Formats: sequence, C-alpha cells, structure tokens
Amino acid sequence: MNSSGSYHIADIANSIEGEINRLKAQVDLFWANEWKHYQSHGLTGAKAVIELGSGPGFLLEKLLTHIPHANVTGLEIDRLLVDYATDYLKKEKQSRWQVYEGDIIQTGMEDNTFDFAISRLVLEHLPDPTKAIKEIYRILKPGGKVILVDNDFEMHIMTYPHVSGLRELYDAYCQARFAEGGNPKIGRELPQILKDGGFTNVQFDIVNAHSTILGDEMFFQSEGVGIPYKLVQDGFLSSKDLGKISVSWRKMVQDKHHAIVRQLC
Ligand SMILES: C[S@@+](CC[C@H](N)C(=O)[O-])C[C@H]1O[C@@H](n2cnc3c(N)ncnc32)[C@H](O)[C@@H]1O
Repeated sequence: MNSSGSYHIADIANSIEGEINRLKAQVDLFWANEWKHYQSHGLTGAKAVIELGSGPGFLLEKLLTHIPHANVTGLEIDRLLVDYATDYLKKEKQSRWQVYEGDIIQTGMEDNTFDFAISRLVLEHLPDPTKAIKEIYRILKPGGKVILVDNDFEMHIMTYPHVSGLRELYDAYCQARFAEGGNPKIGRELPQILKDGGFTNVQFDIVNAHSTILGDEMFFQSEGVGIPYKLVQDGFLSSKDLGKISVSWRKMVQDKHHAIVRQLC
C-alpha cells in the first residue's frame, strides 16, 4: 500500500498530456447531469466554494462560469497540476478564484471558511478517506455542504452490444489502484464515510452519461487508452487481452444501435 494514494498524474497513464485531456473530457461528459445535482443541493447560492483535489482546473472553470457570485478555491496536492490550473484559469480574467498547493487530509485552511465543498474523483484514491472528510467538515461553516463524486468500478462503462473483456480490464484497474492504497469501489461506501466524518442529512445519488444523448466522441475522449496501456506496462493486464478488448469495442461501435453508459456516485 502507498500512503500517498493511487492517483499520480505522472504515472497513472502513459502520458501526462493525454491524462489531462482525459480529465477534461470526463468533466464535460458528466457536467450537464452533475450540474443539476449541484443546483438541487444549493450550490448556486454559495458564496465561498472549494474543490479539493482540483487537478488541472476543469471543474473550477465550470464553477466560475455557472456560479458567477461565488469565490472559488482549488486545493491540489500535485504542484504540476496547481501550475497547470493557475495558467489555464488565467483566461477567466476574474479575480475571484485561487488554486493552492495542499493536501486534502491537512489543508492548512482556517475552521469555518467555506459554505460548499466538492471533491470529485479524489476520495477513491486516498488510503484514509474518512480523515479527508473530517478535514472538510472542519473547514466548512456550520450548515455547510459537501458533494463527493466518485466511481464504483463494479458499474463502470456498460455497452450494447456487450464488449467482451471490459470486466477483466476493470478488474485489472481495481487491482492496480487497491495495490496503491486507493479504493476504486468506494462509491457504495460514501454515505457511511460521510457519517463517520461528522456529516448529517446524507444523501446518495447516481449521475449518468449515455452515448445516445451525448454522442460517442465524449466517451472516447473520457476513456482513452492511456490508463489501459499503463496497466499492460505494469503487468496488470496482458497486451493480448487489451487487443481483444479493442477489437470487441470497435465492433460494438459499428452496431447501429450501440449504446455506451457510465455512472458516477
Ligand atoms: C482523478 S483526478 C480528479 C481531478 C478533478 N477533481 C476532476 O474531477 O477532474 C484526482 C486529483 O486529486 C488529486 N489528489 C490526490 N490526492 C490528493 C490529496 N491527498 N490532496 C489533494 N489532492 C489530491 C490528484 O493530484 C488529482 O489532481
């Protein structure tokens, strides 16, 4: 187990640039439905919002556009991504955002600072997610809210027609992340983790993305081959199996009635 968790942009995929592009596509893929959830939980009325584990800043960008009256903070552990986000968000030409280098476990922020916190696709990579939740609870104002968004790899991409080998690919991915101290099946555990961290009035929802509605391209970009290639390089998946999956995937996409579905908790 790795105490720094299971997401390091430099080695989760076979290229940093490819992984940054994948993260952007993954924000775009879910945004329309995710935004409905943020709205229904009152994000539009928030004045001080923080995203913990903000990566290259693509969710921060959406927040700045959609909640024009909020001050938006990003907190990110990886210096490379802090610099990327700071540069990327400069085009916003707004003075109501900042991105800090820091650890979600120990943010260094004052108590009672924010009225809304978001942590998206981060808890699934942490060895001790409850510690992170306790820290988020501490920096939220009384009555503040947190939204956690994570995978549960028992229900990753589903397709029609069925793509053979996808389950093996996701099992290989889970093995790799578990070995590094992450939990790619954390989705189902989120309500209890929130309660353990001190939160009350906990709710649980699923956000969906469907290719018939969004088009195939968004799925192609948000999945990509960078992580599967790395699983082969690291010995979690055979190149023969990856080859079979690619052939089966191409056949699936050629079917006139094909569908690709993905869900986040
Ligand atoms: C899968 S990316 C998600 C990025 C962004 N939230 C998004 O939805 O596109 C996970 C991010 O969490 C960051 N991260 C991992 N462990 C962290 C920690 N302990 N504290 C803060 N950020 C962390 C990683 O560096 C990475 O940028």
